[in-house]
Amino acid sequence: MKKSKITGIGFHVPKQLVTNQDLTSIMDTSDEWIRTRSGIEQRRWVQGDEAASDLAIPASIKAMEMAGVNPEDIDVVVVGTISGDYFFPGVSAQLQAELGLRNIAAFDIKAACSAFVYSLSIADQFIQTGQYTTALVVGAEAQTKFINKSTEGRDIAVLFGDGAGAAVLQVSNDESGILSTHLHCQGKDLKNLWMEAPGSSGDNQINTVTIEQAKRFEPYMNGREVFKNAVVRFPEVIHEALEKNNLSMDDISLIIPHQANLRIIQSVAKRMGVEQDKFYANIQRYGNTTAASIPIALCEAVEEEKVKEGDTIILAAFGAGYTWASAAIRW
Ligand code: ACO
Repeated sequence: MKKSKITGIGFHVPKQLVTNQDLTSIMDTSDEWIRTRSGIEQRRWVQGDEAASDLAIPASIKAMEMAGVNPEDIDVVVVGTISGDYFFPGVSAQLQAELGLRNIAAFDIKAACSAFVYSLSIADQFIQTGQYTTALVVGAEAQTKFINKSTEGRDIAVLFGDGAGAAVLQVSNDESGILSTHLHCQGKDLKNLWMEAPGSSGDNQINTVTIEQAKRFEPYMNGREVFKNAVVRFPEVIHEALEKNNLSMDDISLIIPHQANLRIIQSVAKRMGVEQDKFYANIQRYGNTTAASIPIALCEAVEEEKVKEGDTIILAAFGAGYTWASAAIRW
Protein backbone atom coordinates (compact mmCIF):
# COMPACT_ATOMS: atom_id res chain seq x y z
CA MET A 1 0.00 0.00 0.00
CA LYS A 2 1.16 3.50 -0.78
CA LYS A 3 0.88 6.46 1.60
CA SER A 4 -0.54 9.90 0.80
CA LYS A 5 0.67 13.29 1.98
CA ILE A 6 -0.63 16.83 1.83
CA THR A 7 1.67 18.78 -0.49
CA GLY A 8 -0.31 22.00 -0.84
CA ILE A 9 -2.95 23.91 1.10
CA GLY A 10 -4.88 27.14 0.58
CA PHE A 11 -7.93 28.99 1.81
CA HIS A 12 -10.20 31.81 0.77
CA VAL A 13 -12.88 33.74 2.68
CA PRO A 14 -15.39 36.34 1.48
CA LYS A 15 -14.47 40.03 1.73
CA GLN A 16 -17.54 40.97 3.78
CA LEU A 17 -16.52 41.12 7.45
CA VAL A 18 -19.39 40.90 9.96
CA THR A 19 -18.57 41.74 13.58
CA ASN A 20 -20.75 40.90 16.57
CA GLN A 21 -21.51 44.60 16.77
CA ASP A 22 -22.73 44.54 13.14
CA LEU A 23 -25.16 41.75 14.05
CA THR A 24 -26.75 43.85 16.77
CA SER A 25 -28.11 46.17 14.07
CA ILE A 26 -30.02 43.35 12.32
CA MET A 27 -31.14 41.17 15.25
CA ASP A 28 -31.64 41.26 19.01
CA THR A 29 -28.26 40.01 20.23
CA SER A 30 -25.11 41.34 21.90
CA ASP A 31 -21.35 41.04 21.57
CA GLU A 32 -21.27 39.78 25.16
CA TRP A 33 -23.83 36.97 24.50
CA ILE A 34 -22.02 35.76 21.41
CA ARG A 35 -18.49 35.93 22.88
CA THR A 36 -19.34 34.20 26.15
CA ARG A 37 -21.34 31.37 24.47
CA SER A 38 -19.12 30.78 21.44
CA GLY A 39 -15.87 32.79 21.54
CA ILE A 40 -16.77 34.29 18.16
CA GLU A 41 -15.86 37.95 17.54
CA GLN A 42 -16.34 38.21 13.77
CA ARG A 43 -17.05 36.11 10.70
CA ARG A 44 -17.09 36.47 6.91
CA TRP A 45 -20.37 36.30 5.00
CA VAL A 46 -20.80 35.92 1.27
CA GLN A 47 -22.66 38.77 -0.36
CA GLY A 48 -24.63 39.30 -3.57
CA ASP A 49 -24.10 36.49 -6.06
CA GLU A 50 -21.12 35.03 -4.19
CA ALA A 51 -21.54 31.24 -3.79
CA ALA A 52 -19.58 28.25 -2.47
CA SER A 53 -17.70 27.70 -5.76
CA ASP A 54 -16.44 31.32 -5.69
CA LEU A 55 -14.65 30.46 -2.45
CA ALA A 56 -13.61 26.94 -3.45
CA ILE A 57 -11.92 27.99 -6.70
CA PRO A 58 -9.35 30.46 -5.27
CA ALA A 59 -8.66 28.13 -2.30
CA SER A 60 -7.98 25.27 -4.74
CA ILE A 61 -5.73 27.39 -6.94
CA LYS A 62 -3.63 28.35 -3.90
CA ALA A 63 -3.32 24.71 -2.81
CA MET A 64 -2.34 23.61 -6.34
CA GLU A 65 0.26 26.39 -6.61
CA MET A 66 1.80 25.42 -3.27
CA ALA A 67 1.93 21.77 -4.33
CA GLY A 68 3.37 22.75 -7.73
CA VAL A 69 0.74 20.74 -9.61
CA ASN A 70 -0.97 21.66 -12.86
CA PRO A 71 -4.66 21.10 -13.65
CA GLU A 72 -3.79 18.05 -15.77
CA ASP A 73 -2.08 16.41 -12.77
CA ILE A 74 -5.28 16.15 -10.68
CA ASP A 75 -6.89 12.67 -10.79
CA VAL A 76 -9.86 13.18 -8.45
CA VAL A 77 -11.71 16.05 -6.74
CA VAL A 78 -13.63 15.52 -3.50
CA VAL A 79 -15.55 18.49 -2.07
CA GLY A 80 -17.11 18.57 1.39
CA THR A 81 -20.07 20.96 1.44
CA ILE A 82 -23.68 21.35 2.54
CA SER A 83 -24.15 24.70 0.79
CA GLY A 84 -23.18 24.12 -2.81
CA ASP A 85 -24.20 26.57 -5.53
CA TYR A 86 -26.95 24.25 -6.75
CA PHE A 87 -29.13 21.49 -5.26
CA PHE A 88 -27.35 19.30 -7.81
CA PRO A 89 -24.77 18.68 -9.20
CA GLY A 90 -22.00 19.32 -6.74
CA VAL A 91 -19.36 22.04 -6.43
CA SER A 92 -16.85 19.37 -7.52
CA ALA A 93 -18.32 19.49 -11.05
CA GLN A 94 -17.83 23.25 -11.14
CA LEU A 95 -14.23 22.86 -9.95
CA GLN A 96 -13.57 20.29 -12.69
CA ALA A 97 -14.73 22.79 -15.30
CA GLU A 98 -13.44 26.06 -13.82
CA LEU A 99 -9.97 24.76 -12.92
CA GLY A 100 -9.61 23.17 -16.37
CA LEU A 101 -9.17 19.63 -15.01
CA ARG A 102 -9.33 16.51 -17.18
CA ASN A 103 -12.62 14.54 -17.21
CA ILE A 104 -11.67 12.96 -13.91
CA ALA A 105 -13.72 11.70 -10.95
CA ALA A 106 -15.40 14.58 -9.09
CA PHE A 107 -18.00 14.34 -6.32
CA ASP A 108 -19.33 16.07 -3.20
CA ILE A 109 -19.59 14.70 0.33
CA LYS A 110 -22.48 15.90 2.51
CA ALA A 111 -21.07 15.06 5.95
CA ALA A 112 -21.45 18.63 7.27
CA CYS A 113 -18.73 19.66 9.72
CA SER A 114 -16.94 16.30 9.33
CA ALA A 115 -16.93 16.51 5.53
CA PHE A 116 -13.34 17.71 5.07
CA VAL A 117 -11.94 14.81 7.12
CA TYR A 118 -14.32 12.39 5.35
CA SER A 119 -13.16 13.76 1.97
CA LEU A 120 -9.51 13.57 2.98
CA SER A 121 -10.01 9.95 4.02
CA ILE A 122 -11.65 9.04 0.70
CA ALA A 123 -8.85 10.68 -1.30
CA ASP A 124 -6.29 8.94 0.93
CA GLN A 125 -7.84 5.52 0.14
CA PHE A 126 -7.60 6.19 -3.62
CA ILE A 127 -3.92 7.05 -3.26
CA GLN A 128 -3.17 4.14 -0.93
CA THR A 129 -4.60 1.65 -3.39
CA GLY A 130 -2.71 3.20 -6.29
CA GLN A 131 -5.84 4.09 -8.27
CA TYR A 132 -4.91 7.78 -8.26
CA THR A 133 -1.72 9.71 -7.53
CA THR A 134 -2.95 13.29 -7.05
CA ALA A 135 -6.17 14.42 -5.36
CA LEU A 136 -7.76 17.80 -4.68
CA VAL A 137 -9.73 17.85 -1.42
CA VAL A 138 -11.87 20.89 -0.57
CA GLY A 139 -14.20 22.07 2.20
CA ALA A 140 -16.36 24.99 1.03
CA GLU A 141 -19.43 26.67 2.49
CA ALA A 142 -21.65 29.64 1.66
CA GLN A 143 -24.11 28.54 4.32
CA THR A 144 -25.09 32.00 5.51
CA LYS A 145 -27.27 32.19 2.38
CA PHE A 146 -29.58 29.71 4.14
CA ILE A 147 -29.71 31.18 7.64
CA ASN A 148 -32.39 33.41 9.06
CA LYS A 149 -30.61 36.67 9.82
CA SER A 150 -33.36 38.07 12.03
CA THR A 151 -33.94 37.70 15.79
CA GLU A 152 -35.93 34.53 15.06
CA GLY A 153 -32.84 32.79 13.72
CA ARG A 154 -30.27 34.35 16.04
CA ASP A 155 -29.22 31.15 17.85
CA ILE A 156 -27.85 29.84 14.52
CA ALA A 157 -27.08 33.10 12.69
CA VAL A 158 -24.46 34.36 15.13
CA LEU A 159 -22.45 31.12 15.03
CA PHE A 160 -21.88 30.55 11.33
CA GLY A 161 -19.59 31.99 8.68
CA ASP A 162 -18.53 31.27 5.11
CA GLY A 163 -15.21 30.18 3.63
CA ALA A 164 -13.27 27.49 1.82
CA GLY A 165 -10.06 25.53 2.36
CA ALA A 166 -8.31 23.09 0.05
CA ALA A 167 -5.52 20.51 0.11
CA VAL A 168 -3.63 18.65 -2.59
CA LEU A 169 -2.80 15.05 -1.71
CA GLN A 170 -0.03 13.16 -3.46
CA VAL A 171 1.90 9.94 -3.03
CA SER A 172 4.40 10.18 -0.18
CA ASN A 173 7.90 8.88 -0.68
CA ASP A 174 9.09 9.50 2.88
CA GLU A 175 7.94 9.24 6.51
CA SER A 176 5.49 12.12 6.19
CA GLY A 177 1.84 11.71 5.29
CA ILE A 178 -1.55 10.56 6.51
CA LEU A 179 -1.05 7.90 9.19
CA SER A 180 -4.72 6.96 9.65
CA THR A 181 -8.27 8.24 9.33
CA HIS A 182 -11.34 7.32 11.42
CA LEU A 183 -14.93 8.02 10.37
CA HIS A 184 -18.19 7.61 12.30
CA CYS A 185 -21.91 8.39 12.11
CA GLN A 186 -24.91 8.06 14.44
CA GLY A 187 -27.99 8.89 12.41
CA LYS A 188 -30.55 8.44 15.16
CA ASP A 189 -29.87 12.00 16.34
CA LEU A 190 -29.91 13.63 12.94
CA LYS A 191 -32.81 15.94 13.78
CA ASN A 192 -30.74 17.68 16.47
CA LEU A 193 -28.78 19.46 13.75
CA TRP A 194 -30.39 19.53 10.33
CA MET A 195 -32.05 21.41 7.55
CA GLU A 196 -35.23 19.57 6.69
CA ALA A 197 -35.97 21.01 3.29
CA PRO A 198 -35.73 21.02 0.35
CA GLY A 199 -35.93 17.25 0.32
CA SER A 200 -37.90 14.33 -1.04
CA SER A 201 -39.50 13.56 2.33
CA GLY A 202 -43.15 14.46 2.95
CA ASP A 203 -44.01 17.89 1.59
CA ASN A 204 -40.47 19.23 1.78
CA GLN A 205 -40.53 20.31 -1.84
CA ILE A 206 -40.27 23.93 -2.81
CA ASN A 207 -43.74 24.03 -4.42
CA THR A 208 -45.39 23.26 -1.07
CA VAL A 209 -43.82 26.06 0.97
CA THR A 210 -45.93 28.54 2.81
CA ILE A 211 -44.55 31.40 4.87
CA GLU A 212 -45.33 29.47 8.08
CA GLN A 213 -43.44 26.44 6.79
CA ALA A 214 -40.42 28.35 5.50
CA LYS A 215 -38.44 27.57 8.66
CA ARG A 216 -37.98 24.03 7.34
CA PHE A 217 -35.70 25.61 4.75
CA GLU A 218 -33.39 26.98 7.47
CA PRO A 219 -30.92 25.02 9.61
CA TYR A 220 -32.18 23.90 13.03
CA MET A 221 -29.90 23.11 15.98
CA ASN A 222 -30.62 21.69 19.41
CA GLY A 223 -27.62 23.51 20.87
CA ARG A 224 -27.49 21.76 24.24
CA GLU A 225 -27.66 18.26 22.73
CA VAL A 226 -25.04 19.15 20.11
CA PHE A 227 -22.76 20.44 22.86
CA LYS A 228 -23.19 17.29 25.01
CA ASN A 229 -22.43 14.94 22.13
CA ALA A 230 -19.54 16.97 20.72
CA VAL A 231 -17.59 16.98 23.97
CA VAL A 232 -17.79 13.17 24.10
CA ARG A 233 -17.13 12.33 20.44
CA PHE A 234 -14.15 14.68 19.94
CA PRO A 235 -12.07 12.99 22.69
CA GLU A 236 -13.15 9.52 21.52
CA VAL A 237 -12.05 10.03 17.94
CA ILE A 238 -8.79 11.73 18.98
CA HIS A 239 -7.99 8.74 21.24
CA GLU A 240 -8.83 6.41 18.38
CA ALA A 241 -6.20 8.12 16.21
CA LEU A 242 -3.62 7.93 19.02
CA GLU A 243 -4.26 4.24 19.73
CA LYS A 244 -4.18 3.20 16.07
CA ASN A 245 -0.70 4.71 15.72
CA ASN A 246 0.67 3.79 19.17
CA LEU A 247 1.04 7.47 19.98
CA SER A 248 0.57 9.35 23.24
CA MET A 249 -0.63 12.94 23.57
CA ASP A 250 3.01 13.95 24.11
CA ASP A 251 3.78 12.88 20.54
CA ILE A 252 1.18 15.29 19.16
CA SER A 253 2.27 18.85 18.34
CA LEU A 254 -1.17 20.22 17.57
CA ILE A 255 -4.79 19.14 17.38
CA ILE A 256 -6.82 20.99 14.77
CA PRO A 257 -10.47 20.57 15.73
CA HIS A 258 -13.50 21.59 13.73
CA GLN A 259 -14.18 25.15 14.86
CA ALA A 260 -17.68 24.50 16.20
CA ASN A 261 -17.62 26.72 19.25
CA LEU A 262 -14.72 27.87 21.44
CA ARG A 263 -16.52 26.54 24.53
CA ILE A 264 -16.70 23.08 22.96
CA ILE A 265 -12.98 23.18 22.11
CA GLN A 266 -12.09 24.33 25.65
CA SER A 267 -14.31 21.73 27.22
CA VAL A 268 -12.77 18.94 25.10
CA ALA A 269 -9.24 20.01 26.10
CA LYS A 270 -10.25 20.07 29.76
CA ARG A 271 -11.94 16.66 29.64
CA MET A 272 -8.85 15.18 27.98
CA GLY A 273 -6.49 16.82 30.48
CA VAL A 274 -4.63 18.50 27.63
CA GLU A 275 -3.43 22.12 27.69
CA GLN A 276 -5.60 24.50 25.66
CA ASP A 277 -2.65 25.54 23.49
CA LYS A 278 -2.55 22.09 21.95
CA PHE A 279 -5.96 22.77 20.37
CA TYR A 280 -5.76 25.27 17.54
CA ALA A 281 -8.57 27.84 17.51
CA ASN A 282 -9.36 30.61 15.03
CA ILE A 283 -13.15 30.55 15.41
CA GLN A 284 -12.85 34.02 16.97
CA ARG A 285 -12.22 35.43 13.48
CA TYR A 286 -14.26 33.16 11.18
CA GLY A 287 -17.13 31.70 13.21
CA ASN A 288 -18.15 28.15 12.42
CA THR A 289 -17.50 27.51 8.71
CA THR A 290 -18.69 23.86 8.78
CA ALA A 291 -16.69 21.80 6.20
CA ALA A 292 -14.25 24.66 5.61
CA SER A 293 -13.21 25.16 9.23
CA ILE A 294 -10.52 22.47 9.48
CA PRO A 295 -8.69 23.30 6.22
CA ILE A 296 -8.80 27.05 7.02
CA ALA A 297 -7.42 26.35 10.50
CA LEU A 298 -4.74 24.05 9.06
CA CYS A 299 -3.63 26.79 6.63
CA GLU A 300 -3.36 29.36 9.42
CA ALA A 301 -1.59 26.96 11.79
CA VAL A 302 1.02 26.23 9.09
CA GLU A 303 1.39 29.97 8.30
CA GLU A 304 1.92 30.65 12.01
CA GLU A 305 4.52 27.83 12.12
CA LYS A 306 2.46 25.94 14.69
CA VAL A 307 2.74 22.97 12.33
CA LYS A 308 6.27 22.24 11.10
CA GLU A 309 7.94 19.50 9.09
CA GLY A 310 8.13 16.29 11.11
CA ASP A 311 5.32 17.25 13.51
CA THR A 312 2.52 14.81 14.18
CA ILE A 313 -0.90 16.45 14.21
CA ILE A 314 -4.51 15.29 14.52
CA LEU A 315 -7.47 16.76 12.67
CA ALA A 316 -10.74 16.11 14.55
CA ALA A 317 -14.32 16.82 13.51
CA PHE A 318 -17.86 16.54 14.83
CA GLY A 319 -21.06 17.69 13.18
CA ALA A 320 -24.49 17.03 11.76
CA GLY A 321 -25.50 13.42 11.27
CA TYR A 322 -24.12 13.16 13.89
CA THR A 323 -20.85 12.49 12.11
CA TRP A 324 -17.42 12.57 13.68
CA ALA A 325 -13.96 11.84 12.30
CA SER A 326 -10.22 12.21 12.80
CA ALA A 327 -7.00 12.04 10.79
CA ALA A 328 -3.50 11.56 12.19
CA ILE A 329 -0.88 13.19 9.99
CA ARG A 330 2.94 13.34 10.04
CA TRP A 331 3.66 16.75 8.46
N1 ACO B 1 -28.24 36.50 21.19
C1 ACO B 1 -28.89 36.71 22.34
N2 ACO B 1 -29.67 35.79 22.91
C2 ACO B 1 -29.80 34.60 22.30
C3 ACO B 1 -29.16 34.32 21.10
C4 ACO B 1 -28.35 35.33 20.53
N3 ACO B 1 -27.69 35.14 19.37
N4 ACO B 1 -29.48 33.07 20.73
C5 ACO B 1 -30.29 32.58 21.65
N5 ACO B 1 -30.50 33.50 22.60
C6 ACO B 1 -31.34 33.39 23.79
C7 ACO B 1 -32.40 32.35 23.68
O1 ACO B 1 -33.52 32.86 23.05
C8 ACO B 1 -32.64 31.99 25.10
O2 ACO B 1 -33.46 32.98 25.67
P1 ACO B 1 -34.54 32.61 26.79
O3 ACO B 1 -33.76 32.07 27.96
O4 ACO B 1 -35.21 33.94 27.09
O5 ACO B 1 -35.46 31.61 26.19
C9 ACO B 1 -31.29 32.14 25.73
O6 ACO B 1 -30.51 32.98 24.86
C10 ACO B 1 -30.58 30.82 25.87
O7 ACO B 1 -29.32 31.09 26.41
P2 ACO B 1 -28.58 30.04 27.27
O8 ACO B 1 -29.45 29.64 28.42
O9 ACO B 1 -27.21 30.51 27.60
O10 ACO B 1 -28.59 28.82 26.28
P3 ACO B 1 -27.66 27.66 26.25
O11 ACO B 1 -26.87 27.54 27.51
O12 ACO B 1 -28.43 26.50 25.77
O13 ACO B 1 -26.60 28.07 25.13
C11 ACO B 1 -25.78 27.61 22.97
C12 ACO B 1 -26.97 28.07 23.79
C13 ACO B 1 -24.70 28.70 23.00
C14 ACO B 1 -26.21 27.42 21.52
C15 ACO B 1 -25.25 26.33 23.58
O14 ACO B 1 -26.25 25.37 23.63
C16 ACO B 1 -24.08 25.82 22.85
O15 ACO B 1 -22.98 26.35 22.96
N6 ACO B 1 -24.29 24.73 22.07
C17 ACO B 1 -23.33 24.22 21.17
C18 ACO B 1 -23.86 24.39 19.86
C19 ACO B 1 -22.83 24.86 18.89
O16 ACO B 1 -21.98 25.67 19.14
N7 ACO B 1 -22.92 24.32 17.74
C20 ACO B 1 -21.98 24.66 16.75
C21 ACO B 1 -22.54 24.30 15.44
S1 ACO B 1 -22.73 22.60 15.27
C22 ACO B 1 -21.26 22.00 14.94
O17 ACO B 1 -20.44 22.61 14.34
C23 ACO B 1 -20.98 20.68 15.39
